Amino acid sequence: MKLHNVKELLEATATMDVVEVKGWVKTFRSNRFIALNDGSSLNNIQCVVDFNEIEENLLKKINTGSALHIKGALVESQGRGQKYEIVVSQLEVLGESDPENYPIQPKKHTLEFLREKAHLRVRTNTFGAVMRLRSALAFAVHQYFTKEGFYYVNTPIITGSDAEGAGEMFRVSTLDPKNPPLGEDGAIDYKQDFFGKETNLTVSGQLEAEAYAMALGKVYTFGPTFRAENSNTSRHLAEFWMIEPEVAFNDLDANMDLAEDFIKYVLDYVLENCQEDLQFLDQRLEKEEQSKPKQDRSPMGLIEKLRFVTDNNFKRVSYSEAIDILLQSKPNKKKKFDYVIEAWGADLQSEHERFLVEKHFKCPVILFDYPASIKAFYMRLNDDGKTVRAMDILFPGIGEIAGGSQREERLEVLQDKMAQLGIPEEELWWYLDLRKFGSAVHSGFGLGFERLVQFATGMGNIRDVIPFPRTPLNAEF
Ligand code: 4AD
Ligand code: MG
Repeated sequence: MKLHNVKELLEATATMDVVEVKGWVKTFRSNRFIALNDGSSLNNIQCVVDFNEIEENLLKKINTGSALHIKGALVESQGRGQKYEIVVSQLEVLGESDPENYPIQPKKHTLEFLREKAHLRVRTNTFGAVMRLRSALAFAVHQYFTKEGFYYVNTPIITGSDAEGAGEMFRVSTLDPKNPPLGEDGAIDYKQDFFGKETNLTVSGQLEAEAYAMALGKVYTFGPTFRAENSNTSRHLAEFWMIEPEVAFNDLDANMDLAEDFIKYVLDYVLENCQEDLQFLDQRLEKEEQSKPKQDRSPMGLIEKLRFVTDNNFKRVSYSEAIDILLQSKPNKKKKFDYVIEAWGADLQSEHERFLVEKHFKCPVILFDYPASIKAFYMRLNDDGKTVRAMDILFPGIGEIAGGSQREERLEVLQDKMAQLGIPEEELWWYLDLRKFGSAVHSGFGLGFERLVQFATGMGNIRDVIPFPRTPLNAEF
Protein backbone atom coordinates (compact mmCIF):
# COMPACT_ATOMS: atom_id res chain seq x y z
CA MET A 1 0.00 0.00 0.00
CA LYS A 2 1.13 3.50 -0.80
CA LEU A 3 2.49 5.49 2.09
CA HIS A 4 0.69 8.77 2.72
CA ASN A 5 2.48 11.84 3.87
CA VAL A 6 1.23 13.99 6.72
CA LYS A 7 0.61 16.99 4.49
CA GLU A 8 -1.79 15.15 2.19
CA LEU A 9 -3.64 13.64 5.13
CA LEU A 10 -4.08 17.06 6.74
CA GLU A 11 -5.36 18.40 3.42
CA ALA A 12 -7.67 15.42 2.77
CA THR A 13 -11.22 16.21 1.67
CA ALA A 14 -12.82 13.03 2.95
CA THR A 15 -12.27 10.36 5.58
CA MET A 16 -10.42 7.18 4.56
CA ASP A 17 -10.76 3.65 5.87
CA VAL A 18 -7.08 2.78 5.74
CA VAL A 19 -4.12 5.12 5.70
CA GLU A 20 -0.47 4.47 6.37
CA VAL A 21 2.22 6.92 7.51
CA LYS A 22 5.77 6.90 8.80
CA GLY A 23 7.25 9.72 10.83
CA TRP A 24 8.69 10.93 14.11
CA VAL A 25 6.88 11.58 17.36
CA LYS A 26 6.65 15.27 18.25
CA THR A 27 4.67 14.66 21.44
CA PHE A 28 2.95 11.74 23.12
CA ARG A 29 0.22 12.71 25.57
CA SER A 30 -1.90 10.74 28.02
CA ASN A 31 -0.46 7.47 26.72
CA ARG A 32 -2.93 7.90 23.86
CA PHE A 33 -2.36 10.92 21.58
CA ILE A 34 0.65 10.88 19.25
CA ALA A 35 1.53 14.01 17.27
CA LEU A 36 3.39 12.61 14.26
CA ASN A 37 5.50 14.60 11.81
CA ASP A 38 7.29 13.43 8.67
CA GLY A 39 8.72 16.72 7.42
CA SER A 40 6.11 17.20 4.70
CA SER A 41 4.33 19.88 6.72
CA LEU A 42 4.83 22.18 9.64
CA ASN A 43 1.76 20.61 11.21
CA ASN A 44 1.51 17.17 12.77
CA ILE A 45 -1.14 14.56 12.26
CA GLN A 46 -2.77 13.48 15.49
CA CYS A 47 -2.82 9.72 15.89
CA VAL A 48 -5.14 8.32 18.54
CA VAL A 49 -4.24 4.92 19.94
CA ASP A 50 -7.05 2.40 19.98
CA PHE A 51 -6.45 0.47 23.23
CA ASN A 52 -8.31 -2.58 21.91
CA GLU A 53 -5.83 -2.95 19.08
CA ILE A 54 -2.46 -1.85 20.49
CA GLU A 55 -0.55 -3.65 23.23
CA GLU A 56 0.36 -1.70 26.32
CA ASN A 57 4.02 -2.81 26.13
CA LEU A 58 4.38 -1.28 22.72
CA LEU A 59 3.16 2.08 24.01
CA LYS A 60 6.01 2.13 26.54
CA LYS A 61 8.44 2.31 23.64
CA ILE A 62 6.94 5.50 22.27
CA ASN A 63 8.74 8.72 23.20
CA THR A 64 9.39 12.11 21.74
CA GLY A 65 11.65 11.53 18.77
CA SER A 66 10.79 7.84 18.13
CA ALA A 67 10.24 6.78 14.53
CA LEU A 68 6.89 5.08 13.95
CA HIS A 69 4.99 3.25 11.25
CA ILE A 70 1.27 3.72 11.73
CA LYS A 71 -1.79 2.27 10.04
CA GLY A 72 -5.33 3.22 10.80
CA ALA A 73 -8.46 5.00 9.68
CA LEU A 74 -8.56 8.70 8.86
CA VAL A 75 -11.57 10.04 10.70
CA GLU A 76 -12.98 13.45 11.52
CA SER A 77 -11.28 14.66 14.67
CA GLN A 78 -13.19 14.82 17.92
CA GLY A 79 -10.72 17.27 19.38
CA ARG A 80 -10.06 20.85 18.42
CA GLY A 81 -7.15 22.04 16.31
CA GLN A 82 -7.33 19.57 13.46
CA LYS A 83 -9.90 18.46 10.94
CA TYR A 84 -8.77 14.86 10.65
CA GLU A 85 -6.93 12.39 12.84
CA ILE A 86 -5.86 8.77 12.57
CA VAL A 87 -7.35 6.08 14.77
CA VAL A 88 -4.37 3.77 15.08
CA SER A 89 -5.05 0.09 14.48
CA GLN A 90 -1.49 -1.05 13.75
CA LEU A 91 1.69 0.42 15.14
CA GLU A 92 5.32 -0.45 14.67
CA VAL A 93 8.17 1.29 16.47
CA LEU A 94 10.82 1.65 13.77
CA GLY A 95 13.36 3.38 15.98
CA GLU A 96 13.17 4.08 19.69
CA SER A 97 14.36 7.32 21.19
CA ASP A 98 15.94 7.64 24.61
CA PRO A 99 13.73 10.18 26.41
CA GLU A 100 16.41 11.08 28.97
CA ASN A 101 18.94 12.13 26.38
CA TYR A 102 16.93 13.36 23.41
CA PRO A 103 17.75 17.07 23.26
CA ILE A 104 14.71 18.22 21.27
CA GLN A 105 12.06 18.26 23.97
CA PRO A 106 8.63 19.74 23.33
CA LYS A 107 9.53 23.10 24.85
CA LYS A 108 11.25 26.24 23.63
CA HIS A 109 14.99 25.93 23.06
CA THR A 110 17.29 28.85 22.34
CA LEU A 111 18.76 29.13 18.85
CA GLU A 112 22.23 29.06 20.42
CA PHE A 113 21.50 25.73 22.12
CA LEU A 114 20.13 24.30 18.88
CA ARG A 115 23.23 25.35 16.93
CA GLU A 116 25.16 22.83 19.01
CA LYS A 117 22.64 20.18 17.93
CA ALA A 118 22.60 21.03 14.23
CA HIS A 119 21.98 17.38 13.34
CA LEU A 120 18.70 17.35 15.27
CA ARG A 121 17.53 20.96 15.19
CA VAL A 122 15.76 20.48 11.88
CA ARG A 123 13.20 18.44 13.84
CA THR A 124 11.98 21.63 15.51
CA ASN A 125 9.16 23.67 13.98
CA THR A 126 11.39 26.67 13.39
CA PHE A 127 14.17 24.85 11.56
CA GLY A 128 11.73 22.66 9.64
CA ALA A 129 10.04 25.82 8.36
CA VAL A 130 13.35 27.56 7.57
CA MET A 131 14.76 24.61 5.64
CA ARG A 132 11.56 24.00 3.67
CA LEU A 133 11.61 27.68 2.73
CA ARG A 134 15.28 27.49 1.78
CA SER A 135 14.50 24.59 -0.54
CA ALA A 136 11.56 26.45 -2.11
CA LEU A 137 13.73 29.53 -2.70
CA ALA A 138 16.40 27.43 -4.41
CA PHE A 139 13.74 25.94 -6.67
CA ALA A 140 12.41 29.42 -7.48
CA VAL A 141 15.94 30.56 -8.38
CA HIS A 142 16.27 27.82 -10.99
CA GLN A 143 12.72 28.39 -12.19
CA TYR A 144 13.28 32.11 -12.68
CA PHE A 145 16.47 31.75 -14.69
CA THR A 146 15.15 28.86 -16.75
CA LYS A 147 12.03 30.82 -17.66
CA GLU A 148 14.20 33.80 -18.62
CA GLY A 149 16.35 31.70 -20.97
CA PHE A 150 19.49 31.42 -18.82
CA TYR A 151 21.77 28.39 -18.75
CA TYR A 152 22.93 26.93 -15.43
CA VAL A 153 26.73 26.75 -15.38
CA ASN A 154 28.82 24.88 -12.81
CA THR A 155 32.01 26.85 -12.31
CA PRO A 156 34.98 25.22 -10.55
CA ILE A 157 35.16 25.02 -6.78
CA ILE A 158 38.93 24.56 -6.78
CA THR A 159 40.50 27.55 -8.43
CA GLY A 160 43.99 28.33 -9.62
CA SER A 161 43.58 32.09 -9.68
CA ASP A 162 43.27 34.19 -6.57
CA ALA A 163 43.02 37.48 -8.37
CA GLU A 164 39.45 38.42 -7.73
CA GLY A 165 40.25 39.81 -4.34
CA ALA A 166 36.77 39.17 -2.97
CA GLY A 167 38.13 37.67 0.24
CA GLU A 168 40.74 35.56 1.97
CA MET A 169 40.97 32.06 0.52
CA PHE A 170 41.26 28.52 1.85
CA ARG A 171 44.23 26.64 0.41
CA VAL A 172 43.70 23.28 -1.29
CA SER A 173 46.75 21.08 -1.09
CA THR A 174 47.85 17.47 -0.75
CA LEU A 175 51.35 18.36 0.43
CA ASP A 176 52.42 16.99 3.80
CA PRO A 177 51.98 19.97 6.15
CA LYS A 178 54.71 18.62 8.46
CA ASN A 179 57.24 18.22 5.73
CA PRO A 180 56.38 20.20 2.58
CA PRO A 181 58.85 20.26 -0.32
CA LEU A 182 60.81 23.50 -0.38
CA GLY A 183 62.17 25.37 -3.36
CA GLU A 184 65.63 26.94 -3.58
CA ASP A 185 64.31 30.12 -1.99
CA GLY A 186 63.11 28.18 1.06
CA ALA A 187 59.43 28.73 0.24
CA ILE A 188 56.99 25.84 -0.22
CA ASP A 189 57.34 24.42 -3.72
CA TYR A 190 53.79 24.18 -5.00
CA LYS A 191 55.06 22.81 -8.31
CA GLN A 192 55.15 19.51 -6.44
CA ASP A 193 51.59 19.89 -5.20
CA PHE A 194 48.65 18.01 -6.70
CA PHE A 195 47.84 20.59 -9.38
CA GLY A 196 51.44 21.71 -9.87
CA LYS A 197 50.52 25.16 -8.58
CA GLU A 198 48.92 26.87 -5.62
CA THR A 199 45.18 26.29 -5.55
CA ASN A 200 42.34 27.51 -3.37
CA LEU A 201 38.62 27.14 -2.80
CA THR A 202 36.79 29.66 -4.93
CA VAL A 203 35.41 32.92 -3.50
CA SER A 204 33.17 33.44 -6.55
CA GLY A 205 32.37 31.83 -9.89
CA GLN A 206 32.15 35.17 -11.65
CA LEU A 207 35.27 35.19 -13.81
CA GLU A 208 34.51 31.76 -15.25
CA ALA A 209 30.82 32.69 -15.63
CA GLU A 210 31.93 35.66 -17.75
CA ALA A 211 33.65 33.26 -20.14
CA TYR A 212 30.42 31.31 -20.51
CA ALA A 213 28.26 34.42 -20.91
CA MET A 214 30.45 35.39 -23.86
CA ALA A 215 29.19 32.33 -25.73
CA LEU A 216 25.90 31.23 -24.19
CA GLY A 217 24.64 34.77 -23.68
CA LYS A 218 22.76 34.42 -20.41
CA VAL A 219 24.16 32.18 -17.69
CA TYR A 220 24.02 31.78 -13.94
CA THR A 221 25.89 29.85 -11.32
CA PHE A 222 24.44 28.64 -8.02
CA GLY A 223 27.01 26.94 -5.89
CA PRO A 224 29.13 27.01 -2.75
CA THR A 225 31.76 29.69 -2.25
CA PHE A 226 34.34 30.01 0.50
CA ARG A 227 35.88 32.92 2.36
CA ALA A 228 38.43 32.63 5.12
CA GLU A 229 37.78 36.08 6.56
CA ASN A 230 37.65 36.08 10.30
CA SER A 231 34.34 37.90 10.55
CA ASN A 232 32.21 36.55 13.34
CA THR A 233 29.00 38.37 12.47
CA SER A 234 25.36 37.41 12.04
CA ARG A 235 25.74 37.85 8.26
CA HIS A 236 29.01 36.04 7.42
CA LEU A 237 29.77 32.38 6.81
CA ALA A 238 33.05 30.81 5.75
CA GLU A 239 31.08 28.56 3.37
CA PHE A 240 28.03 30.04 1.71
CA TRP A 241 26.04 29.62 -1.49
CA MET A 242 26.06 32.29 -4.14
CA ILE A 243 23.87 32.89 -7.18
CA GLU A 244 25.75 34.68 -9.95
CA PRO A 245 23.99 35.59 -13.18
CA GLU A 246 26.15 36.99 -15.99
CA VAL A 247 24.64 38.44 -19.15
CA ALA A 248 26.27 39.41 -22.44
CA PHE A 249 25.23 42.84 -23.81
CA ASN A 250 23.63 43.95 -20.51
CA ASP A 251 24.76 47.32 -19.20
CA LEU A 252 24.48 48.34 -15.55
CA ASP A 253 20.87 49.54 -15.87
CA ALA A 254 19.82 46.21 -17.36
CA ASN A 255 21.77 44.49 -14.57
CA MET A 256 19.81 46.42 -11.92
CA ASP A 257 16.52 45.59 -13.68
CA LEU A 258 17.45 41.90 -13.72
CA ALA A 259 18.44 41.84 -10.06
CA GLU A 260 15.27 43.58 -8.93
CA ASP A 261 13.00 41.41 -11.06
CA PHE A 262 14.77 38.25 -9.90
CA ILE A 263 14.58 39.04 -6.18
CA LYS A 264 10.91 40.00 -6.44
CA TYR A 265 10.13 36.79 -8.31
CA VAL A 266 11.67 34.44 -5.77
CA LEU A 267 10.06 36.26 -2.84
CA ASP A 268 6.72 36.18 -4.62
CA TYR A 269 7.20 32.46 -5.13
CA VAL A 270 7.51 31.75 -1.42
CA LEU A 271 4.65 34.11 -0.57
CA GLU A 272 2.50 32.02 -2.94
CA ASN A 273 3.82 28.57 -2.11
CA CYS A 274 5.02 28.54 1.51
CA GLN A 275 2.15 30.21 3.33
CA GLU A 276 2.02 27.83 6.27
CA ASP A 277 5.74 28.06 7.06
CA LEU A 278 5.77 31.82 6.47
CA GLN A 279 2.87 32.36 8.84
CA PHE A 280 4.67 30.34 11.49
CA LEU A 281 7.89 32.31 11.00
CA ASP A 282 5.92 35.56 11.01
CA GLN A 283 4.50 34.71 14.43
CA ARG A 284 7.89 33.56 15.68
CA LEU A 285 9.41 36.89 14.68
CA GLU A 286 6.56 38.82 16.21
CA LYS A 287 7.16 37.12 19.57
CA GLU A 288 10.87 37.83 19.29
CA GLU A 289 10.17 41.49 18.47
CA GLN A 290 7.89 41.80 21.50
CA SER A 291 10.83 40.98 23.74
CA LYS A 292 12.83 43.94 22.36
CA PRO A 293 12.59 47.54 23.57
CA LYS A 294 9.89 49.41 21.62
CA GLN A 295 12.24 51.65 19.63
CA ASP A 296 14.20 48.63 18.33
CA ARG A 297 11.18 46.76 17.04
CA SER A 298 10.66 46.35 13.33
CA PRO A 299 7.63 48.33 12.17
CA MET A 300 6.57 45.49 9.83
CA GLY A 301 5.84 41.82 10.28
CA LEU A 302 7.66 39.25 8.14
CA ILE A 303 4.98 38.70 5.51
CA GLU A 304 4.24 42.42 5.37
CA LYS A 305 7.95 43.06 4.79
CA LEU A 306 8.12 40.54 1.94
CA ARG A 307 5.02 42.05 0.32
CA PHE A 308 6.50 45.50 0.71
CA VAL A 309 9.59 44.41 -1.23
CA THR A 310 7.68 42.67 -4.01
CA ASP A 311 5.22 45.59 -4.40
CA ASN A 312 7.59 48.56 -4.42
CA ASN A 313 10.45 49.71 -6.62
CA PHE A 314 13.94 49.52 -5.22
CA LYS A 315 15.39 52.98 -4.79
CA ARG A 316 18.39 53.55 -7.08
CA VAL A 317 20.90 56.00 -5.67
CA SER A 318 24.44 56.83 -6.79
CA TYR A 319 27.29 56.46 -4.33
CA SER A 320 27.87 60.23 -4.53
CA GLU A 321 24.26 60.98 -3.54
CA ALA A 322 24.54 58.47 -0.71
CA ILE A 323 27.69 60.14 0.60
CA ASP A 324 25.91 63.52 0.60
CA ILE A 325 23.03 62.02 2.57
CA LEU A 326 25.42 60.41 5.04
CA LEU A 327 27.48 63.60 5.47
CA GLN A 328 24.28 65.47 6.32
CA SER A 329 22.96 62.74 8.61
CA LYS A 330 22.56 63.12 12.36
CA PRO A 331 24.62 60.07 13.39
CA ASN A 332 27.50 61.26 11.23
CA LYS A 333 27.37 64.85 12.49
CA LYS A 334 27.13 63.65 16.08
CA LYS A 335 29.88 61.09 15.48
CA LYS A 336 27.58 58.23 16.43
CA PHE A 337 28.91 56.00 13.64
CA ASP A 338 31.93 53.85 14.50
CA TYR A 339 33.38 55.03 11.21
CA VAL A 340 32.53 58.68 10.66
CA ILE A 341 32.26 59.58 6.96
CA GLU A 342 34.77 62.35 6.23
CA ALA A 343 34.54 62.74 2.49
CA TRP A 344 33.71 61.26 -0.89
CA GLY A 345 35.76 58.12 -1.44
CA ALA A 346 35.08 56.52 1.94
CA ASP A 347 34.18 52.83 1.91
CA LEU A 348 30.69 52.26 3.28
CA GLN A 349 30.43 50.11 6.41
CA SER A 350 27.34 48.14 7.25
CA GLU A 351 26.28 50.82 9.78
CA HIS A 352 26.10 53.33 6.88
CA GLU A 353 24.29 50.93 4.60
CA ARG A 354 21.76 50.19 7.30
CA PHE A 355 21.23 53.88 8.00
CA LEU A 356 20.45 54.50 4.34
CA VAL A 357 18.08 51.55 4.03
CA GLU A 358 16.40 51.46 7.43
CA LYS A 359 16.36 55.10 8.52
CA HIS A 360 16.61 57.23 5.40
CA PHE A 361 14.94 55.46 2.45
CA LYS A 362 13.05 52.77 4.38
CA CYS A 363 13.08 50.44 1.37
CA PRO A 364 15.57 48.29 -0.58
CA VAL A 365 18.24 50.47 -2.16
CA ILE A 366 20.58 49.89 -5.10
CA LEU A 367 23.72 51.99 -4.75
CA PHE A 368 25.74 52.41 -7.95
CA ASP A 369 28.79 54.17 -9.44
CA TYR A 370 31.23 53.63 -6.58
CA PRO A 371 34.76 55.04 -6.44
CA ALA A 372 37.07 52.80 -8.45
CA SER A 373 39.50 52.69 -5.54
CA ILE A 374 37.18 50.68 -3.28
CA LYS A 375 35.93 48.17 -5.87
CA ALA A 376 37.32 45.17 -7.77
CA PHE A 377 39.63 45.44 -10.78
CA TYR A 378 37.13 44.09 -13.30
CA MET A 379 34.48 46.78 -12.93
CA ARG A 380 33.92 49.09 -15.86
CA LEU A 381 35.50 52.51 -15.51
CA ASN A 382 33.13 55.45 -16.05
CA ASP A 383 34.05 58.39 -18.28
CA ASP A 384 34.80 60.48 -15.18
CA GLY A 385 37.86 58.26 -14.69
CA LYS A 386 37.22 57.85 -10.97
CA THR A 387 34.03 55.83 -10.55
CA VAL A 388 33.12 52.35 -11.75
CA ARG A 389 29.83 50.82 -12.87
CA ALA A 390 29.35 48.88 -9.63
CA MET A 391 26.13 48.21 -7.79
CA ASP A 392 25.32 46.95 -4.30
CA ILE A 393 21.80 45.99 -3.29
CA LEU A 394 21.01 46.84 0.32
CA PHE A 395 18.12 45.31 2.24
CA PRO A 396 16.54 46.28 5.54
CA GLY A 397 17.82 44.14 8.40
CA ILE A 398 20.37 42.47 6.13
CA GLY A 399 22.57 45.17 4.64
CA GLU A 400 24.28 44.05 1.42
CA ILE A 401 22.33 41.20 -0.15
CA ALA A 402 23.93 41.36 -3.61
CA GLY A 403 26.86 43.03 -5.33
CA GLY A 404 27.69 43.27 -8.99
CA SER A 405 28.79 45.45 -11.88
CA GLN A 406 29.12 46.07 -15.54
CA ARG A 407 32.45 44.46 -16.45
CA GLU A 408 35.39 46.23 -18.07
CA GLU A 409 35.22 45.03 -21.67
CA ARG A 410 38.08 47.21 -23.05
CA LEU A 411 41.37 45.30 -23.14
CA GLU A 412 43.73 48.24 -22.58
CA VAL A 413 41.71 49.72 -19.76
CA LEU A 414 41.61 46.35 -18.03
CA GLN A 415 45.34 45.79 -18.53
CA ASP A 416 46.08 49.26 -17.09
CA LYS A 417 43.97 48.52 -14.06
CA MET A 418 45.62 45.16 -13.43
CA ALA A 419 49.05 46.74 -13.75
CA GLN A 420 48.07 49.44 -11.21
CA LEU A 421 46.96 46.77 -8.75
CA GLY A 422 49.93 44.49 -9.41
CA ILE A 423 47.82 41.64 -10.78
CA PRO A 424 50.09 39.64 -13.13
CA GLU A 425 48.64 39.16 -16.61
CA GLU A 426 49.90 35.55 -16.71
CA GLU A 427 47.52 34.67 -13.93
CA LEU A 428 44.47 35.89 -15.84
CA TRP A 429 45.61 35.38 -19.44
CA TRP A 430 42.38 33.59 -20.24
CA TYR A 431 40.28 36.40 -18.73
CA LEU A 432 42.14 38.89 -20.93
CA ASP A 433 41.54 36.63 -23.95
CA LEU A 434 37.82 37.27 -23.53
CA ARG A 435 38.61 40.95 -24.28
CA LYS A 436 40.60 39.97 -27.38
CA PHE A 437 38.10 37.74 -29.11
CA GLY A 438 34.66 39.25 -29.54
CA SER A 439 34.60 41.39 -26.43
CA ALA A 440 31.29 43.05 -25.61
CA VAL A 441 29.52 44.93 -22.88
CA HIS A 442 28.37 42.50 -20.18
CA SER A 443 27.21 42.58 -16.58
CA GLY A 444 26.35 40.40 -13.65
CA PHE A 445 25.96 40.21 -9.91
CA GLY A 446 26.32 37.83 -7.00
CA LEU A 447 23.56 37.31 -4.47
CA GLY A 448 24.33 35.61 -1.17
CA PHE A 449 21.75 32.84 -0.94
CA GLU A 450 21.84 32.65 2.87
CA ARG A 451 21.23 36.40 3.17
CA LEU A 452 18.20 35.95 0.93
CA VAL A 453 16.99 33.07 3.11
CA GLN A 454 17.57 35.25 6.18
CA PHE A 455 15.42 37.98 4.70
CA ALA A 456 12.67 35.57 3.66
CA THR A 457 12.53 33.78 7.00
CA GLY A 458 13.22 36.70 9.35
CA MET A 459 16.03 34.76 11.05
CA GLY A 460 18.47 37.12 12.71
CA ASN A 461 21.58 34.96 12.44
CA ILE A 462 22.92 33.52 9.19
CA ARG A 463 24.01 30.37 11.07
CA ASP A 464 20.36 29.47 11.41
CA VAL A 465 19.52 29.40 7.70
CA ILE A 466 22.14 26.89 6.47
CA PRO A 467 22.00 23.26 7.65
CA PHE A 468 25.53 22.96 9.01
CA PRO A 469 27.18 26.39 9.27
CA ARG A 470 30.92 26.87 8.87
CA THR A 471 32.32 29.84 10.77
CA PRO A 472 35.67 30.60 12.43
CA LEU A 473 36.52 27.80 14.91
CA ASN A 474 33.40 25.87 13.96
CA ALA A 475 33.27 22.96 11.52
CA GLU A 476 31.46 20.36 13.64
CA PHE A 477 29.25 17.84 11.80
O1 4AD B 1 29.98 41.31 -3.00
P1 4AD B 1 30.64 39.99 -3.28
O2 4AD B 1 31.97 39.75 -2.69
O3 4AD B 1 30.68 39.87 -4.86
C1 4AD B 1 31.31 38.93 -5.59
O4 4AD B 1 31.85 37.94 -5.16
C2 4AD B 1 31.16 39.15 -7.08
N1 4AD B 1 32.14 38.32 -7.78
C3 4AD B 1 29.74 38.80 -7.48
C4 4AD B 1 29.46 38.98 -8.96
O5 4AD B 1 29.45 40.10 -9.43
N2 4AD B 1 29.21 37.91 -9.67
O6 4AD B 1 29.67 38.83 -2.81
C5 4AD B 1 28.36 38.74 -3.34
C6 4AD B 1 27.37 38.50 -2.25
C7 4AD B 1 27.29 39.59 -1.19
O7 4AD B 1 26.49 40.66 -1.62
C8 4AD B 1 26.67 38.85 -0.02
O8 4AD B 1 25.27 38.75 -0.18
C9 4AD B 1 27.26 37.47 -0.17
O9 4AD B 1 27.69 37.34 -1.51
N3 4AD B 1 28.39 37.26 0.74
C10 4AD B 1 28.36 36.48 1.83
N4 4AD B 1 27.36 35.76 2.38
C11 4AD B 1 27.64 35.07 3.50
N5 4AD B 1 28.85 35.04 4.10
C12 4AD B 1 29.90 35.74 3.57
N6 4AD B 1 31.09 35.67 4.15
C13 4AD B 1 29.66 36.51 2.39
N7 4AD B 1 30.44 37.29 1.62
C14 4AD B 1 29.66 37.73 0.62
MG1 MG C 1 30.17 43.07 -2.08
